[in-house]
Amino acid sequence: MIDSDISLSTTIPAPAGKMVHIETWGCQMNAADSERMLALLAAQSYQLAADAESADLVLLNTCHIREKAKHKVLSRLGVLKEIKERRPGMTIAVAGCVAQAEGSRLLKAAPQIDVLLGPGKIDELPRLLREHDASGKRAQAIGFHRHAPDSAPGPEMAPVIAPPTLTGKHEVSRYVNIQQGCNNYCTFCVVPFTRGRELSRPAAEILAESAALVAAGARELTLLGQNVNSYGSDLSTKPSFASLLRSVAALPGLERLRFTTSNPHDFTAELAELFATQPRLGRYLHLPVQSGSDSMLLRMQRKVTVASYLERIDWLRRAVPDIALSTDLIVGFPGETDAEFADTMRLVEQVRFGFAFMFKYSPRKNTPAARYANQVDEKVKEDRLAQLMRLQDRITAEIHAAEVGLVRPVLFHYESSKNPGQYYGRTDHFRLVRVTSDTPLTGQVHQVRISSGNKVGLIGELVN
Ligand code: 5AD
Ligand code: SF4
Repeated sequence: MIDSDISLSTTIPAPAGKMVHIETWGCQMNAADSERMLALLAAQSYQLAADAESADLVLLNTCHIREKAKHKVLSRLGVLKEIKERRPGMTIAVAGCVAQAEGSRLLKAAPQIDVLLGPGKIDELPRLLREHDASGKRAQAIGFHRHAPDSAPGPEMAPVIAPPTLTGKHEVSRYVNIQQGCNNYCTFCVVPFTRGRELSRPAAEILAESAALVAAGARELTLLGQNVNSYGSDLSTKPSFASLLRSVAALPGLERLRFTTSNPHDFTAELAELFATQPRLGRYLHLPVQSGSDSMLLRMQRKVTVASYLERIDWLRRAVPDIALSTDLIVGFPGETDAEFADTMRLVEQVRFGFAFMFKYSPRKNTPAARYANQVDEKVKEDRLAQLMRLQDRITAEIHAAEVGLVRPVLFHYESSKNPGQYYGRTDHFRLVRVTSDTPLTGQVHQVRISSGNKVGLIGELVN
């Protein structure tokens, strides 16, 4: 599940020393990469700055998935330039997919950048900073992981865990990266160009990192990759994703195990059945469909039809009849007709996703679809997106309304910092729940009676 419109900035007051401020855009992969960079910086004695203004190092971890995401980074760089003019000692580092995709063009456009590194090079951050500090010159590392898939894992993939005190994140739910890159080349997607081809992380490393995170207080783990279902196919021992899930799910102390993103093309009946036998997997899956029209899916090169997508949902619903599903949808892909868009609306009505990430198609350089002649007018895209969002909001609100009166187990992730005593957690259907409590709930599972719900989430009370 990816939402590049979400930007997270980590700002926690910290004592004197070298201070870092990090801002993260885009998907969970980027969030996980930011945690890793913070862990590497912690080993260099960096601490978190209160904000960009008081930081020695400002690190932007960027997203290139849609044009809008890139523009946000450029406008942020403009603000940082002004801060740097007032504080010349400040270092600006740009990481992530914009760094990878725009490389030297970005360096030319933004002279304020001191360090540039692609998502395949995040472990080189300390070296690049040292180089820049020593020479005063710009330092950069772009490109993908170097080691061949069958070789021993390089140090860059070894477990490095950022303590929550450093990331400013909540320790209850943590990400574990299991795979880099993607081999699918959907015609709209820039990811194979920014994150390279699929590279699975050895299962032993994933298990070691997962166990360390649980020991550090995590109760929920989310295994991350662009295409987790094909995990292991590039490793010599060919471990299956299902076997990896079984091993991680067996970790003592782990409450819930989730994973994303699943490409429906590689989603197997075996995986669907795992939901029935492994209660820790919860009752939720994100399965991006993109469109409800076969002709669109073909032009997107998604390698599934609407019927085969529905077959996978059927497997899942046979395993867990009330499983909650979410998806990604694109409107206004080149050549999308009113009838093809209506097919997407129909599919959304039929499947009744719990929620969906919905996007206007955004042409990305190097991708085949950007070169298609029949690009859809921006106004048409906007109208379709608004229609689709209205429909999905209605369905989400209906699903949430149907929860009222039910008792659900909720794993509490954190206490609101603005409103102490308000705790946020998720049901095993991944629905967001708010509960008010005098006693701390973070990290615990409690039965909650749902009292109300809207299109955003649920409100409930503890059942004693
Ligand atoms: N335009 C719009 N949305 C896109 N996505 C990926 N590429 C594009 C693009 N060029 C969406 C897809 C994908 C999610 C991560 O972002 O829905 O599943
Ligand atoms: Fe994540 Fe990069 Fe894709 Fe953005 S472009 S969603 S950061 S992988």
